[in-house]
Amino acid sequence: MYILGMESSCDETSAAVVAVEEGRFRILSNIVASQIETHRVYGGVVPEIASRAHIEAITGITREALSTAGVGVGELGAVAVTAFPGLIGALLVGVNFAKSLAFANSIPLVAVNHIKAHVAAAYLSHEALKPPFLALVVSGGHTSIFDVTDPTDFREIGSTRDDAAGEAFDKIGRVIGLPYPGGAALDRLAYEGDGKAIRLPSPALGGETLDFSFSGLKTAALNHINTCRQGGVEVARADLAASFTRAVVEGIAQKAEQALTLTGRKTLVLAGGVAANSHLRRRLGELVLLAGAQLVVPPVSLCGDNGAMVAAAGYFEFQSGRLADVSLNASALDHPEP
Ligand code: KG4
Ligand code: ZN
Repeated sequence: MYILGMESSCDETSAAVVAVEEGRFRILSNIVASQIETHRVYGGVVPEIASRAHIEAITGITREALSTAGVGVGELGAVAVTAFPGLIGALLVGVNFAKSLAFANSIPLVAVNHIKAHVAAAYLSHEALKPPFLALVVSGGHTSIFDVTDPTDFREIGSTRDDAAGEAFDKIGRVIGLPYPGGAALDRLAYEGDGKAIRLPSPALGGETLDFSFSGLKTAALNHINTCRQGGVEVARADLAASFTRAVVEGIAQKAEQALTLTGRKTLVLAGGVAANSHLRRRLGELVLLAGAQLVVPPVSLCGDNGAMVAAAGYFEFQSGRLADVSLNASALDHPEP
């Protein structure tokens, strides 16, 4: 069957056509229109501008996804759309568009959880992947560890109590003058600095919990920057990038290791925008080797928001019979009211 996956939860409008044959995925198209340049002047995503940009892009993006795939609307077996969580105005654009398309063409509609979609990207790149596994979702809005027992069944066993890792990267990047979003720029800059130059607290909470807290780390990095500026000393940006990255990566690695030990799972899936971070990918790769486990990470092109991951997650929802109807609404929440 062919599935159209649609994504508009933040600052990327995306549509993709994914073919599924005997449980095997093939990406036929995955068109992503990024609004990064539009939001860059503001140093972050402006929700109303994001919604308006989605409205302008969504029809053309969908046309392009279908024509690149060589698939007609009438051939679609399902339309899958990100319905939660995310920016509400942005989500509403995708949900309403997908609903209209499905309704007008009598195509089954599937509502997708954006977090599960990030994890579903791993099935697209790793054909053999099967639950049970642990999934570490690290993005602009989330830092969570899930025990996944079925493609649609996720149990959250750890999460951030305040900021997400991507949010913290972006904040520090902005303060030291890197272009938005700061994550990718800090990743590169970190290679030029000394990760032990600046002492920063770990985002991994102490003890048995698998939770994180990034606010203390963020504040400590900001205090360091302010102290330098007040003393008329130039901030050593590369050392800060390296030290900040090291704190984030080591903190995440610590909780990932604890989660593997606690659950006995042998596969760790790394997903979400921050999964593109080269230092995190390498560190977790080393960690699983020592733990006798395997690391599954989608290619960088599937780590950020995209329609193909939504189509993959939508396929599993479709398989389990959870179809949406014309009453479908969007929600900003991780766990919307049923
Ligand atoms: O998953 P995503 O595209 O959107 C959300 O669902 O939030 O994640 C976006 C986040 C941003 O915070 C961005 O700075 C971060 O992913 N990011 C990175 C890298 N590439 C993107 N963070 C660290 N290192 C990277 N290479
Ligand atoms: Zn995302």
